[in-house]
Amino acid sequence: MKTYLVTGGAGFIGANFVKYMLNKYSDIQLVVLDALTYAGNLGTIIKEVEDPRCVFVKGDICDAKLADELFAKYNFNYVANFAAESHVDRSIENPQLFLITNILGTQNLLDAARKHWVTGKDANGYPTWKEGVKFHQVSTDEVYGSLGAEGYFTETTPLDPRSPYSASKTGSDLIVNAYAETYKMPVTITRCSNNYGPYHFPEKLIPLIIKNILEGKSLPVYGDGTNVRDWLYVEDHCKAIDMVINNGRIGQVYNVGGHNEKQNIEIVKLTISTIRQLMEENKAYREVLKKKEIVNGEISIEWINESLITFVKDRLGHDQRYAIDPTKIKDELGWYPETMFAEGIVKTIRWYLENQGWVEEVASGDYQKYYDEMYAKR
Ligand code: NAD
Ligand code: TYD
Repeated sequence: MKTYLVTGGAGFIGANFVKYMLNKYSDIQLVVLDALTYAGNLGTIIKEVEDPRCVFVKGDICDAKLADELFAKYNFNYVANFAAESHVDRSIENPQLFLITNILGTQNLLDAARKHWVTGKDANGYPTWKEGVKFHQVSTDEVYGSLGAEGYFTETTPLDPRSPYSASKTGSDLIVNAYAETYKMPVTITRCSNNYGPYHFPEKLIPLIIKNILEGKSLPVYGDGTNVRDWLYVEDHCKAIDMVINNGRIGQVYNVGGHNEKQNIEIVKLTISTIRQLMEENKAYREVLKKKEIVNGEISIEWINESLITFVKDRLGHDQRYAIDPTKIKDELGWYPETMFAEGIVKTIRWYLENQGWVEEVASGDYQKYYDEMYAKR
């Protein structure tokens, strides 16, 4: 049986990973460490936490004593480090928190792993490591910076982060690599493109647009809407991480992406038309609307159209285009994306229509204050 420390397991991708792993492996132990920041929600993994194969610990990855205690208590085979501050707009407002969590938090986990996983020294003075252990860092394509109209990020593309968020993620990757070089620590890194799917916090583009449509609010598109992101269904990302942890070569970076580039404006228009179509096909979905316009005794959806789109002030330093070349992970590990975008986006929107309770729960804290402050400036 393998025991995993999954940090950030109450967030979007971490929670999907916890579900994916418990579903896939019967013989597994997961210890989820999450600080439950605004982005973490225990409700998302409440069923999983009730499973004897999964333990939840509320705590900060920067807490050295806690990390030490967890490594001492559980005989971890693997660390999957998802925990991070993850929103670019917030990083522009408060860069320091991103450096603390993403860089120092990662370094703290690396130290705990080093303390508990090192077995001795080799003839050259390098640490020797427990058989089979691995520290996996969940990273992002944003560390490569921004592309023009052509080309793709490969694993050898120079690191060139532009936002405080991506700079902090680059810092985490570099400290992970430094431990690999200096202490011969067994590590892997995945750098994935933009994820979408269930349990995505509604500060990010797709869930924010869905939420605003249901509330009859305008849909804020930064700049001219031509920025390109390379979207991947979250479960395909989870599959890639599982493959890299279990079969990826030590010390390697793997890019993860499904060749699905879309301009933001396309995403917004597609979300509008998909919601309309789903509500046309199934009138019960109209009940989910917070803005209820009654025409001829029926909930009207005529107002759900592209006139909701509002072009707002651009994000500072807005990266123009991200696009991943996933050849390495395909060739070495046989990874491929299973959910095509056309199917994934409908599945995702359906999920949001059917899980408004979750959205209300995660947006009940400071979300409204964040939204009002952030978007008043635009
Ligand atoms: P998220 O913001 O939804 O979740 C982050 C989780 O980390 C939350 O549960 C939060 O409570 C927890 N957390 C934050 N600070 C913590 C701390 N100090 N100690 C313990 N827990 C803490 O983020 P996400 O979108 O799920 O991203 C997960 C990881 O994947 C991040 O490392 C992110 O950089 C990376 N990533 C995200 C995307 C994407 O499209 N969302 C793409 C590529 C890589
Ligand atoms: P986001 O979901 O924040 O992810 P990231 O910045 O990490 O790629 O944003 C995706 C794209 O959508 C990005 O180009 C910024 C843009 N965007 C908007 O146009 N409006 C919004 O309200 C948000 C949140 C994002």
